[in-house]
Amino acid sequence: MNRDFEFRQILRAYRAGIISEEAFERETAALCANDSVGREFIAMGQAYPSERAAIIAILDRFRAGEANGRVAFTKWVEQCQTECIRSGLRMIAEREGYHVRVFEARLRDLGAECNAETTEAGRRLTERLSSPNISDKEKLLYLASLAPNPEEFFRPFCEFAANIKDDLETRELLDLYIQDELSSANWLLRACAALNGDAQIAVSRDNSASAFV
Ligand SMILES: [Fe+2]
Repeated sequence: MNRDFEFRQILRAYRAGIISEEAFERETAALCANDSVGREFIAMGQAYPSERAAIIAILDRFRAGEANGRVAFTKWVEQCQTECIRSGLRMIAEREGYHVRVFEARLRDLGAECNAETTEAGRRLTERLSSPNISDKEKLLYLASLAPNPEEFFRPFCEFAANIKDDLETRELLDLYIQDELSSANWLLRACAALNGDAQIAVSRDNSASAFV
């Protein structure tokens, strides 16, 4: 049985709930023991030459995304017409901002530079959330269509963190980061349902799905 097959078996058992997270980590650690140096590291659907290379590239990418998120949510707060969600949006903007600072600090610790730039999707997000011509309810529906199931959306992030074996400081940083992101995403979904109703969210999901086919 080769190593990749064994790993997939363990991952499958973990996803199916057959083994706990602790058992998953123990099994994968045993599998990777004395084997992590010089092997490629798969993270977020991409292969990297090492765990360190993956961490640096992905932290930099997340940093750029969070910086864009901070701008997007800050601009939304400035335009927001719906009192009951304004401070929640402000909280999310602050979270995005401190995520940037912590990612920058960790990249500095690792002797890495910040090079990643805002993506096209990030630019579209900022454009929409900062628009005075799009209502708060529509902005919430738009975000709900991007991540209708936050747990599913952040699963690759969780897998990336769980697969880190050497850099435990970054793994713990990512663990807290993901909890923040889930909290923000779930709150946005609840706000969307409260202001638009669940039926509207379902329609928005269908429309967003059909936009890709
Ligand atoms: Fe974020």
